[in-house]
Parts: sequence; structure tokens; C-alpha cells
Amino acid sequence: MINKGIILAGGSGKRMSPLTKAVNKQLLPIYDKPLIYYPLSILMLSKIKNILIIVNKGQVEQYKKIIPNGKNLGIKITYAEQDKPSGLPEAFKIGEKFIGKSNVSLILGDNFFYGQSLTKNLINCTKLKNGARVFLNQVKNPELFGVAKINERKKITKIVEKPKEKFSNYAITGLYFFDNKVIKYSKELKPSKRNETEITDLLKKYLSKNQLSAEIIGRGGAWLDTGSIESFYETTNFVSTIEKRQGFKIACLEEISLLNKWISKKHIKKQIVFYGNCGYSSYLKKLL
Ligand code: DAU
Repeated sequence: MINKGIILAGGSGKRMSPLTKAVNKQLLPIYDKPLIYYPLSILMLSKIKNILIIVNKGQVEQYKKIIPNGKNLGIKITYAEQDKPSGLPEAFKIGEKFIGKSNVSLILGDNFFYGQSLTKNLINCTKLKNGARVFLNQVKNPELFGVAKINERKKITKIVEKPKEKFSNYAITGLYFFDNKVIKYSKELKPSKRNETEITDLLKKYLSKNQLSAEIIGRGGAWLDTGSIESFYETTNFVSTIEKRQGFKIACLEEISLLNKWISKKHIKKQIVFYGNCGYSSYLKKLL
């Protein structure tokens, strides 16, 4: 069972400057809550309670204002800092002590997932004992992502980071499940041309050992990235449309904790006081 998860929530946010000059991207709003709530909700839906959030140097206090230590959500949150954005696999070096001898899930702080059978698939992935598993989703613009080719048995046969020539529409999303060898493999990686270690190089190590499997998000599931201002606002529109239509919130952390029986209504009441008089609190009141 994978019961530890890492959220990589650093990065320079260059493509979103000046919005990200004073505030880290993952603290900016996607409709009615900070972006970081969405990847955190995904780990919580996976029933992962022990979570390390990696942020840029000097930004821990900012994050702690909104997510102090997880107690109010019935989970355990710890923080670590990354000196500079030198690659996604850095997460496993920074998080080495946190991971210990366990298997681990990694989610990128700017990734958004939504869909009917998502929770079932997530829980299934936490059962991973050996190897690595990725979530794939078809996109029209694969050149912006890590891309995987799959065969008729849905096995990955090839991986390229931001391919110049199109060979597949399957983007590798920013949600990964790894066995404990991930620590050793990430230490072996060399920086790429853009002077960062690449998650796709890490995945290739598993692929070469025939230990990489894929979970495919079908047409009924949404994976949105918030890499550019354009996609940031598209994600905001998506959340606002669904929430207004259904009356349910996406990524209400307290609701997930309550459903998981990690907290009681007493905790919800405390959270209402913490948030103050706002739409989010009104939603929490309805849960009571
Ligand atoms: O979103 C999925 C894509 O994420 C994958 O398809 C690619 O294979 C993967 O390389 C990655 O591509 P991006 O170009 O989108 O990665 P980016 O550098 O934008 O970083 C993604 C998130 O991780 C972002 O929230 C910032 C954070 N980050 C990134 C780096 C490189 C860190 O916290 N530290 C880092 O060192």
C-alpha cells in the first residue's frame, strides 16, 4: 500500500510572470481555492495521509498560512524546500528521509484531475508493489508534455519529453506512483539540455526494466494543466462551471477528510472559523 505522497509545488512560474513574482503559482486561485488544494485533494482521495510538500526556498511560511500541518484535515503535512527548480526527480532526493523504505506517489503542484472513476483508479494505483505507474491522457498538443507511445495491450513502448515530432497523443500527466527504487534511480540521472533532471528519464529506467505500467484517463476524465495563463483560466472556468451547476465543490479538502472518516464535524466547525465568512465556509456549513 502506498501511504506516502509528495507534492512538488516549487518552480519559477516564469510563464505566468508578473502574477508569480510575489506569490508562488500554486497559491494562486483556481476559481474559489488555491491551486495547491487540487493536487492535495488527489492524494487524499488516494487515501494517502502522510504528505510532503516541497516548495521554493523561503516560501514555507506562506504555505503554512493556508495548510499548517494537516491536523485540521486529519492528515500529516510536512514541508521541505528546494533551492532552485532543477528538475522533478529532485523530489526524491529532497524527500529521501520522508520516503524511507516506503513506496511513494508524486503529484505536480500544478496538475488538475477530475472524473467519475478517478478515485477507484487512484486507490488501485496505491496497491503498486514493484515498478512505476503513470497516468496518461490524450491531448491535441503533445509537444508541450512528456509523451508515451502505447501498444494494443496498453503497454508503454516509448517515452519522449516534449517531442518535436508527433508520435503519440498520450501525454504523461503529473501524477506518478513509484516503488522505493525511485530514490536510487533519481540519484543516477544526469541533467538534460535544459539543465534539469527529467522525470521522463527516470521513467525510462523503469521502462527499460519492463517495470512501467500505465493507467489511462479516458474521455470521461479531465486532466488540465495550469502551465500557462491561458490554461490557468481554462481550469478556473472548468471548476466554476461544474461547481455552479452541481452545487458540489471540487477539491474541498475538509469534505474529503470527513468522507474518509479522518475528521469529525467538530473539525469542520473549527475550519469554518479559520476561513471566516466566505462561500467556502457556507459550503462547509452545509456538510454539518
Ligand atoms: O504536467 C505534466 C508535465 O510536467 C509532464 O508531461 C512532463 O513530462 C514533465 O516534465 C512536466 O513538464 P512541465 O514542463 O510542465 O514541468 P514544469 O517545469 O512546468 O514543472 C511542473 C511543476 O513542478 C510546476 O508546478 C513547478 C514544479 N517544479 C518544477 C521543477 C522543474 C518544482 O517544484 N521544481 C522543479 O525543479
